[in-house]
Amino acid sequence: MTGVVVVGAQWGDEGKGKIVDWLSERADVIVRFQGGHNAGHTLVVGEEIYRLHALPSGVVRPGKLSIIGSGVVLDPWHLVEEIGHIRAQGIGVTPKTLMVAENAPLILPLHGALDRARESLGSVAKIGTTGRGIGPAYEDKVGRRAVRVADLADKATLEARLDRTLAHHNALRRGLGLPAVDRAGLMARLMEVAPRILEYAAPVWQVLADARKNSRRILFEGAQGALLDIDYGTYPFVTSSNVLSGHAATGAGMGPGAINFVLGIVKAYTTRVGEGPFPTELKDADGRRLGQRGHEFGVTTGRKRRCGWFDACLLRQTCATSGVNGIALTKLDVLDGFEEIRVCVAYELDGRRLDCLPTAAGLQARCTPVYETLPGWSESTEGARSWGALPANAIKYVRRVEELIGCPVAMLSTSPKREDTILVTDPFAG
Ligand code: GDP
Ligand code: IMO
Ligand code: MG
Repeated sequence: MTGVVVVGAQWGDEGKGKIVDWLSERADVIVRFQGGHNAGHTLVVGEEIYRLHALPSGVVRPGKLSIIGSGVVLDPWHLVEEIGHIRAQGIGVTPKTLMVAENAPLILPLHGALDRARESLGSVAKIGTTGRGIGPAYEDKVGRRAVRVADLADKATLEARLDRTLAHHNALRRGLGLPAVDRAGLMARLMEVAPRILEYAAPVWQVLADARKNSRRILFEGAQGALLDIDYGTYPFVTSSNVLSGHAATGAGMGPGAINFVLGIVKAYTTRVGEGPFPTELKDADGRRLGQRGHEFGVTTGRKRRCGWFDACLLRQTCATSGVNGIALTKLDVLDGFEEIRVCVAYELDGRRLDCLPTAAGLQARCTPVYETLPGWSESTEGARSWGALPANAIKYVRRVEELIGCPVAMLSTSPKREDTILVTDPFAG
């Protein structure tokens, strides 16, 4: 097995960063293939906490190659800043350990401004985006008016690309009552940041093809989660990229044969940041308790995450749409001490029982969860590093989750710390 994809199987923040960090010890190359710095991935290594947004989580491991693939939208100023932060934490980042796809589209300040302006329009329901320009940058990519990393190398090309972008954006901005973009100022900023990005620019598809030829182990790191996927998520309350495992190949510049195992990261309960449907959301003391015990605040925006019970219906869908071979179940310790734990096994809609969430938003809003109640456990699972250390009811919970979603647990996580991880099946082995 040389290609493992790690993807979120809920609404993001499932603990992908921790699991990618753990697995990256066994990998040679770690590739981000979609999203941007809307992601916030947390790694806890000893006393140090790393919060990564655009950088792949393998960056903290010496000797590994980190790649930002073409499926990512890249804010060059943010990347420079993030590299600065991680260096200040003692991590070496050089063009030998970090490569950025030459064909990755850039996020410009005008994208963030448009994102935030749209979110503040009172006339349409907001999405609750991270405000980082992700949606507008992807729109420009498919609209064939993006500035890409390689364009930074030549002033004349950059000016031509920028003019194409600005022709569109200035018209849009007029409609929103925003001033025209200061072209000269933006050009100056781009020329200033260009060398700091170009030193990492590479034809990463070639680097990855060589890695594959030499049987190097490649770990694909997804951002967000399957329910935020642009096609299969809870549209329009989604992000603007395909986040499902199938996109790992395209977003890195490889064929689908490069993927041998898909590891879905699954929180032992459910959280969501931003607007949109959430059938098992709890607005009561149990929800507050999950939020407090799980420290459920966004890494990127600091927003409080909405919390609720585990939803097996959604997991059945996301395991299918991402072709999940095994899951890493995280934050089991957050459920410690609950007398009873509920799991959504179906929905009820107009007296009918449904085993998956309907696609139409109007129907989604009217679905009520059908719960199964499982006994909780009073013992602590925090920091457990083996099955033997888990209370019987915690094991029962894990086994029931496996049954309900039809997918085996490959890994378990019992604290934010790197070592507090139980390996059941090594994704690289099988
Ligand atoms: P990501 O976006 O999927 O990488 O997840 P985030 O880093 O945004 O959010 C997950 C949070 O849970 C982080 O604060 C992690 O340190 C933390 N975390 C990860 N695994 C566990 C776990 O098993 N138990 C607990 N209590 N926290 C965890
Ligand atoms: P990680 O990788 C959780 C959510 C935002 C919003 C929607 C659209 O840390 O799991 P966007 O800025 O992408 O246009 O916002 O998507 N969102 C995330 N929620 N975790 C993330 O990333 C997210 N990235 C975006 O809150 O609802
Ligand atoms: Mg996160």
